[in-house]
Amino acid sequence: MADEALYPVPDSWTGQCLVDEARYDAEYAESIRDNTGYWAEQAKRIDWIKAPTQIKDVSFGPDDVHIRWYEDGQLNVCANCVDRHLADKADQTAIIWEGDSPDESKEITYRELHEQVSRLGNVLKAMGVGKGDVVTLYMPMIPEAAYAMLACARIGAVHSVVFAGFSPDALAGRIEDGRSRFVITADEGYRGGRTIALKTNVDAALERPGAQHVEQVLVVRRTGGDIQWNARDRWYHEAMEAASADCPPAVMNAEDPLFILYTSGSTGRPKGVLHTSGGYIVYASLTHQYVFDYHDGDRYWCAADVGWVTGHSYIVYGPLANGAITTMFEGVPTYPDAGRLWEVVDKHQLNIVYTAPTAIRALMREGDEPVKRSSRKSLRLLGSVGEPINPEAWEWYHRVVGEQRCPIVDTWWQTETGGILISPLPGARALKPGSATKPFFGIQPALVDEQGQIKEGATEGNLVILDSWPGQMRTVFGDHERFVQTYFSTYPGRYFTGDGARRDADGYYWITGRVDDVLNISGHRLGTAEIESALVAHEAVAEAAVVGYPHDVKGQGIYVYVTTAAGVNETDALAAELKQWVRKEIGPIATPDLLQWAPGLPKTRSGKIMRRILRKIAEDSYDNLGDTSTLADPEVVDQLIAGHEGIT
Ligand code: WTA
Repeated sequence: MADEALYPVPDSWTGQCLVDEARYDAEYAESIRDNTGYWAEQAKRIDWIKAPTQIKDVSFGPDDVHIRWYEDGQLNVCANCVDRHLADKADQTAIIWEGDSPDESKEITYRELHEQVSRLGNVLKAMGVGKGDVVTLYMPMIPEAAYAMLACARIGAVHSVVFAGFSPDALAGRIEDGRSRFVITADEGYRGGRTIALKTNVDAALERPGAQHVEQVLVVRRTGGDIQWNARDRWYHEAMEAASADCPPAVMNAEDPLFILYTSGSTGRPKGVLHTSGGYIVYASLTHQYVFDYHDGDRYWCAADVGWVTGHSYIVYGPLANGAITTMFEGVPTYPDAGRLWEVVDKHQLNIVYTAPTAIRALMREGDEPVKRSSRKSLRLLGSVGEPINPEAWEWYHRVVGEQRCPIVDTWWQTETGGILISPLPGARALKPGSATKPFFGIQPALVDEQGQIKEGATEGNLVILDSWPGQMRTVFGDHERFVQTYFSTYPGRYFTGDGARRDADGYYWITGRVDDVLNISGHRLGTAEIESALVAHEAVAEAAVVGYPHDVKGQGIYVYVTTAAGVNETDALAAELKQWVRKEIGPIATPDLLQWAPGLPKTRSGKIMRRILRKIAEDSYDNLGDTSTLADPEVVDQLIAGHEGIT
């Protein structure tokens, strides 16, 4: 597209940015030419107890898949995020916390962070948490969530954060899979002026058969709401009071696990993505500094939740490893009204804001006025993550929010990648709305055809990464075979991202979205299989198929086709009940948007559901159904098209 808009680096950035175009070009070329040398050099940004001499040991298969970085190095990730800043930043703010209510906020210095994290480390030890034990966090966006992550890292425990919007069942499944014996939660959370019954959900989860082994639950008092109290429960504030503030960081190997984070794939239950210590922290901190052009003293805000990888890498680990000022926001962009984000920017004089396209689209619908109520003079840079950003939303973000002076970094990455892989460096590149532009240092993306042949030049294809980087996931927790199958079997010897992309004549990448059965709802990943298995667990459902369809605000919406069990009537009441059922089984983010009754589903003669056809019908593009001749019963398609009319 020769005529697409191009936004050059603003003049005000020249000479001020960490990486300009010439430096990017030279450093990128060098990072590929001598990849091991490049990553050996970058490791020096971290304080090692024992500096690594073995930098990279990677095989993407086909026979053996293993990924090891800095293997003989020793470090403590928490000490890198906290202790090492005490010498020169003890009294600098580490965390700006903005509550759900605009009347509540505070700043936590590195000295305070150190004390809280150390005390909590001792609390965990006293609870019996040891090196390698998995601690499940089910928490609101309060500073204690960051303390808990860091305290685990400090004593060598492995945290598994479960987004506080997930249901008791989803929580129980993750506790079971991680064999986690400890849970940290809060009595309730606040979000958008409402409370979320976190402790009650934990109690319900721990009654499920797979989660009854949990020994202790540490409870932060956030709202003071009424909760049930069990023998295994302990108040956070009481335990903290009794704990010593002296907790030496454990000596950890670079490849010791740091955390597990569950994410959806195209099949089966969510996978426990495992990240380890040394490589992850090198990669998270390096990308945070360069992608956000972070200068000491900048006030930075990633408006994600710590329940997702974005919160792990770019609220907690990356910024704190860099001694940055990072913001945690408990609320939502539309509470008390659509001007909240920009009010927060003014209130805390924030310089960098990083959020998701779904939030931008939702705010754009409210018009310019809520934005213009604020000054936003402190803003220098904007960021986007989680899904493709449509050029219209990009332009609005740039023109209205950033007043045309703030570059936008559209960052493409995944839970699996640990950190950003494709993104502009804001001082180095003219921007095109909707393009994540070019790879970060050391990253080698490629586009392949269905057979796995690499396509050169301006082209379109499936996005693979040819070589490893330190932040890459190491395995699926407890199931290495699934790791190999999921990421390295489609195109042997290459990491397959599951995304499709286009590369233009300037070498810019345009991510077009998932090419597998993973949905991206408001930037949150959900597997169609998860939603389908929730649906068929309902007695009224014989069969179900779930697809995504374009949604103005969420990016994708959830469209479900349901075949009822024999003798069950297809009523509106049942449709509403099934939507509520999925919401209860998985969580509010999984609530189906649209439901269509299906007398039958289009299947091949071998019984495989042809989702391609269901997707087309949900998208209203029936002239374009492709080959239906392999269907066992082609008539089903006409019935479904007829049934789709009026589903809005
Ligand atoms: C999508 C979130 C286009 C993509 C960090 C990917 C994006 C999935 C972008 C990972 C972007 C993320 N442009 N698509 N800038 N960022 N995605 O694991 O489909 O929650 O595979 O990690 O989100 O989602 P995840």
